[in-house]
Amino acid sequence: MTGHVIDGKAFAADVRARVAAHVARLREEHGVKPGLAVVLVGADPASEVYVRNKGVQTVEAGMASFEHKLAADTSEADLLALVRVLNADPAVHGILVQLPLPAHMNAELVINTIDPAKDVDGFHISNVGLLGTGQKAMVPCTPLGCLMMLRAHHGTLAGMTAVVVGRSNIVGKPMAQLLLGDSCTVTIAHSRTRELAAVCRGADILVAAVGRAEMITGDMIKPGATVIDVGINRVERDGRSRLVGDVDFASASVVAGAITPVPGGVGPMTIACLLANTLTACCRAHGVAEPEGLTA
Ligand code: GUN
Repeated sequence: MTGHVIDGKAFAADVRARVAAHVARLREEHGVKPGLAVVLVGADPASEVYVRNKGVQTVEAGMASFEHKLAADTSEADLLALVRVLNADPAVHGILVQLPLPAHMNAELVINTIDPAKDVDGFHISNVGLLGTGQKAMVPCTPLGCLMMLRAHHGTLAGMTAVVVGRSNIVGKPMAQLLLGDSCTVTIAHSRTRELAAVCRGADILVAAVGRAEMITGDMIKPGATVIDVGINRVERDGRSRLVGDVDFASASVVAGAITPVPGGVGPMTIACLLANTLTACCRAHGVAEPEGLTA
């Protein structure tokens, strides 16, 4: 039997529609238009595609989009100066500095210069601390998207055993914090974990975020488990370039109770959650009610 395939594309479209409806109300009732500033340093083609998509979807949701494209040899001081200008700009409620940054820049310093209230990536050390202590934070977009899909599928997650494979600051660690916040019993596994297959087989919820193509196979999955695949890996297959996840979909989907595909699973949720975070930041800045179901 094949498990239920969670349609991230449809889910993301629903999130974007809910964001757009709330933005329209905000503009009508409070005269406030949420704004997102995206900063791209250099001309990495993949990053340019991400930034373009973010801009298009921001405008489609009724928000203002501010794009700042800087040359690859921009100095760190000039980037920090731009971040400070955006921090002080009342039309900007969210700031995203596209990563990776060029090697001559200290990414941690740049991220920690963003006003935490405008840090829609949730990467600022203040937001990391707030999330880790169960306080109101800006939450990283990809884990937030995963959490939304899990809540929609299961209702409550309380008491479930969750295994997160991957310990990155962007996905693995915040994902584990969010699952803990929803009262799961959480394990973070990684490349050095012993008996990884057995650890994974204990999971009611398995989140794969390791960045290794198809490393989670069906024999590592508890029958009926929910599998969230965060991986996006480009591989050559039969002479063609294809995108695959960290999960081997063919073997996993016949064991799992529900599974996200790649592409069309977690991926579309990331930008949808960026829009949701921008809206949340705007609501908090203006002291008006936050949208329900779009935050952690
Ligand atoms: N580069 C790839 N993904 C991301 C992301 O989620 N945020 C930022 N700032 N840069 C990225």
